[in-house]
Amino acid sequence: MHKFTAPPLSFVGNKKYFSKIYLEFLDFALLSGVINKQTIFLDCFGGSGWLSHITKQRFPKNRVIWNDYDNYQERLERIPQTNAIRQELLRIKEKNLSKEKTKQEILKVLNANLNYDLRTISGYLTFCGQTLKEDLSNFVPSALEKITKTTIKEPIGYLEGVERVQSDAVNLIETSAGGGGYFLILDPPYLQTHSKSYEGYFNLSDYARLLNAIKKPYCLFGSAKSDILELLSLVEEKEQIKGFCVYGESFTKMNQGIKDRDYLIYNF
Ligand SMILES: C[S@@+](CC[C@H](N)C(=O)[O-])C[C@H]1O[C@@H](n2cnc3c(N)ncnc32)[C@H](O)[C@@H]1O
Repeated sequence: MHKFTAPPLSFVGNKKYFSKIYLEFLDFALLSGVINKQTIFLDCFGGSGWLSHITKQRFPKNRVIWNDYDNYQERLERIPQTNAIRQELLRIKEKNLSKEKTKQEILKVLNANLNYDLRTISGYLTFCGQTLKEDLSNFVPSALEKITKTTIKEPIGYLEGVERVQSDAVNLIETSAGGGGYFLILDPPYLQTHSKSYEGYFNLSDYARLLNAIKKPYCLFGSAKSDILELLSLVEEKEQIKGFCVYGESFTKMNQGIKDRDYLIYNF
């Protein structure tokens, strides 16, 4: 198995930057007796599977369930096709053609490859997380400079032993976690973010549904931007929220030096 230092394919909002704090937290939960050999980890907002991956690495004998709401699995399976398209794009880039000719050549390649990994290929041809349109109207020629010559590695063993489901997170919690023995990993999208990168759009009522459904023990990633602590305080009378704690914080540098503050919250 390769040693993974990041998800095999880029994924907006992946929790790679939280890995160290999260792994320390898992040890803390183990020492607190919350995690044992029978614990089933339910990664409700699975995204790139990064949290499932590192949880399985840390507890290889435990069941880990990854909710692949975005169908990241399909992107992983398409890596050979993505690598082939990448090679073609590199060849086109080297020709230094006009923007229109470059577009035409790219369209030929894309039309010959049905159902390509839209997110990765968009990353090669656009900026600012824009998604490619069929007519390439979002194409920015200078974006081609970003294409690396290095082949994307096959994700061998990345989610080995991890079980995969695809469901709305709240439905999943309601149908699976009722019987106990589960440890919920909750990493919902930021509140009210119009992220083009995700399948869903998470608004206040989605948060309310989620906070109603969650069951202890759990850990919850949330950001100051989403007012997560204020939100939890508002509903603190609920048994499943009462006594929540912040385990750790992480600061992500945003544009113009502004830092975004993310929390790892838990409740046992
Ligand atoms: C912050 S990301 C999770 C990132 C993930 N922990 C990782 O490390 O890659 C939130 C994820 O929740 C997904 N999502 C949005 N609405 C959802 C829903 N109703 N049920 C389950 N997942 C949902 C998004 O598409 C996105 O993949």
